[in-house]
Amino acid sequence: MSVRVFVPADSSALSVGADIVANAIRDEARRRGLDIELVRTGSRGLFWLEPLVEVGTPAGRIGYGPVAPGEAAQLFEAGFLSGGPHPKALGRVDDIPYLARQQRLIFARCGVTDPLSLDDYRRHGGLKGLERALTLGPKATVEEVFASGLRGRGGAGFPTGIKWRTTAGVDADQKYVVCNADEGDSGTFADRMLMEGDPFLLIEGMAIAGVSVGATRGYVYIRSEYPHAFAMFEKAIERARVGGLLGPSVLGSPHAFELEARLGAGAYICGEETSLLESLEGRRGQIRPKPPLPAIKGLFGRPTVINNVLSFASTPWILEHGSKAYAAYGVGRSLGSQPFQLAGNIRHGGLVELAFGATLRDLIEGFGGGSRTGRPIRAVQVGGPLGAYFPASLLDTPLDYEALAKAGGMLGHGGIVVFDDTVDMARQARFAFEFCAKESCGKCTPCRIGSTRGVETVDKIIAGRDRASDIQLLRDLCEVMTDGSLCALGGLAPMPVLSALNHFSEDFARTPARVAAE
Ligand SMILES: Cc1cc2nc3c(=O)[nH]c(=O)nc-3n(C[C@H](O)[C@H](O)[C@H](O)COP(=O)(O)O)c2cc1C
Ligand code: SF4
Repeated sequence: MSVRVFVPADSSALSVGADIVANAIRDEARRRGLDIELVRTGSRGLFWLEPLVEVGTPAGRIGYGPVAPGEAAQLFEAGFLSGGPHPKALGRVDDIPYLARQQRLIFARCGVTDPLSLDDYRRHGGLKGLERALTLGPKATVEEVFASGLRGRGGAGFPTGIKWRTTAGVDADQKYVVCNADEGDSGTFADRMLMEGDPFLLIEGMAIAGVSVGATRGYVYIRSEYPHAFAMFEKAIERARVGGLLGPSVLGSPHAFELEARLGAGAYICGEETSLLESLEGRRGQIRPKPPLPAIKGLFGRPTVINNVLSFASTPWILEHGSKAYAAYGVGRSLGSQPFQLAGNIRHGGLVELAFGATLRDLIEGFGGGSRTGRPIRAVQVGGPLGAYFPASLLDTPLDYEALAKAGGMLGHGGIVVFDDTVDMARQARFAFEFCAKESCGKCTPCRIGSTRGVETVDKIIAGRDRASDIQLLRDLCEVMTDGSLCALGGLAPMPVLSALNHFSEDFARTPARVAAE
């Protein structure tokens, strides 16, 4: 039997030479007359070890990483096909503490299976959730999702079961399921990793939604900056169709469900659900006022369930294991698991899926290993470009929806971006307004005009002419934007600004001369 060698084909691994490494291993095996089966997988999410090469042995999968293209011959010399010792050897991959300490409900298969093999998906437990949903029937399936306490992972944390109930309860000739894969938040990559590493899980989750709310068509809106994920996902859809997971009779049932992928328009605002629907319909991405809710009047005016990739991808586990088992993970009203994404100035960046309740410190120190520069951590932005900056003194804040809100922040899509003590928080506050000004859809005045006035006001504070009154003006502006914006882009842009002002006021009080000298 040939030895199986696994090399990721995820964008993160490809960006550091995984294709070259895979080819070098294939060539070297050929040269030595050795029989290997090269499997291209997704990533395990341990980015500092990419390209992470794994070999199937009787003792489990043994890892080597990060492997440089020139190291292929050395690995063969070291007997890596039977897990031999080498400076890059990592032992059993499942035992690497970064992985072993996670609670992977969504990402269990990512980096393990061949993402485009439906047989491999089935062999590793795939499709059991959908099979149970088909047995339970639509109403009981929606209730199971509701009882699990699953909240939307795109940012707002709205209960998924309520959305599904609403759409299921509306009579219509056509309903839709739309997946938000625009993933615009800074420091986030979980949606991309899942679409590249375990795309059938998302397809299964969307099929569960379609069958249970009575929608026969679905769309996945994938950000244009993810060409590789888009190509992988299109292939997965085709294979799901051939395998009977999609089409006129989902897994042989009387339910039809068809799916298409669409490329996003390249704007942050297109991740907001109503803009996304506008964009899907072929128009410029601009906010639609709510109500009507998309669950009642969404895509092409029809009832539409719109959820994030991770929300849909959570439902197969919920259906397979039951809502009670899911709700046993987490704390308070934040139930289940959350794939956190560690990025920025961090030694061990990557994906960490954990039950809600871990603290920022657990993530950053326990998993991330501190800053990459080795300097003290000064600020951590949680929840994307509209999220709050936390100072080092708040690292013991638990990462759940309520605790973060109480601390003046939000979870967003679970992105955590780390900064060391060289960061200038007045500049970061300026950046928040600048980002908002660039990405504003322009529909409402507080955001369209306020963001530009915000940049100017921060500039004035940095220049230090009439600081006290400019800081008051900045606070007033933040209040107007928070209360008066039509959507959360303008409404939340003040969050990073105010957190910077409140926690790092010294950065707004520097003399201009000092700023210039630095
Ligand atoms: C400016 C802005 C950008 C957003 N970007 C995304 C995004 O990239 N991905 C996403 O899933 N949700 C995004 N959202 C949240 C969506 O509007 C919506 O809440 C989400 O798609 C609902 O799915 P969920 O309930 O599964 O989270 C964004 C919201 C705003 C205001
Ligand atoms: S807050 Fe900004 S992005 Fe949202 S509707 Fe108003 S102008 Fe558009």
